Amino acid sequence: MMTTATAPGKIILAGEHAVVYGRPAIAVPVWERVATATITTLPVGAGCLLVAPDIRRRIVLATAGNNPLAVVTRLTLAQLSAPDNPDWQIEVRSQLPIASGLGSGAALSTALVRAIYTHVGQTPDPAQVSALVYESERIYHGTPSGIDNTVIAYGMPVWFIKGQPPATFQPRQPLTLVIADSGIAAPTKETVGDVRQGWQHDPARYEAWFDEIGALVQAARQAIEQGDLPLLGDLFNRNQTLLAHLGVSSPHLDRLVAAACAAGALGAKLSGGGRGGNMIALIDPTHAQGVTEALQHAGARSVLVTTVR
Ligand code: PMV
Repeated sequence: MMTTATAPGKIILAGEHAVVYGRPAIAVPVWERVATATITTLPVGAGCLLVAPDIRRRIVLATAGNNPLAVVTRLTLAQLSAPDNPDWQIEVRSQLPIASGLGSGAALSTALVRAIYTHVGQTPDPAQVSALVYESERIYHGTPSGIDNTVIAYGMPVWFIKGQPPATFQPRQPLTLVIADSGIAAPTKETVGDVRQGWQHDPARYEAWFDEIGALVQAARQAIEQGDLPLLGDLFNRNQTLLAHLGVSSPHLDRLVAAACAAGALGAKLSGGGRGGNMIALIDPTHAQGVTEALQHAGARSVLVTTVR
């Protein structure tokens, strides 16, 4: 018997960093790049083997220790009251670049959890999948807000407030986004730590910025639900200004944002932890090629166009 499941990547649309302080954020799935898990039943007594051909890894579940994929496999088997070392080969593959802010780790774990549910004859429930993936994310990221596992497990745009059940919603009309990788590695843990230091030093100022971000995220949701793309673009730009106040933009990200806007984007901002990582631009689909080329010219390492429905 063979079972396959997939999970999308993700990108944060608005509200990163402020979300750590209880304000709302919006994240959307990126279906143009997916992670896949395939389970094949092995002969009796073989035990469970996790295989990741892309990174040439073979992990024997019984002796795997704290490997995040092993952890999420064990948690899922326990949740389903399934045998703890089934005779399965689980193969995982991903089109998502690792540590790129597109949620590669959460996407792999989500595909894996879904495949296990399906292989034992159960329907994966997004809330349960999300909770299991969160546990494995904690191994990579300490105490993440939970936005990555949520948007990837639901596979839809989500309105996210830490500690509250997420709400999914749908754009009135499709959103076309250009995602550019700055090519600069910037661990989210570090930028989150720097924002915390700034906040500790001047809480009133930071709280006021977080409030402004929270308000524009609220407006962004309305703009998405009403299909008001020019307004949404404007809100991207305002969010970018506030993220720069928080100290998480960089000259390279600023250049990419300016290049996208000059090439006709409706708005642009960094996305995720900042300093490096990704930026996103909201565009009319007719501008896809022009904005892509402008970003490449401005030094983006890779550029991806996604449609959010
Ligand atoms: O860098 P990413 O895409 O994983 O996003 C980080 C988002 C933050 O709000 C900065 C941190 C968090 O845990 O939500």
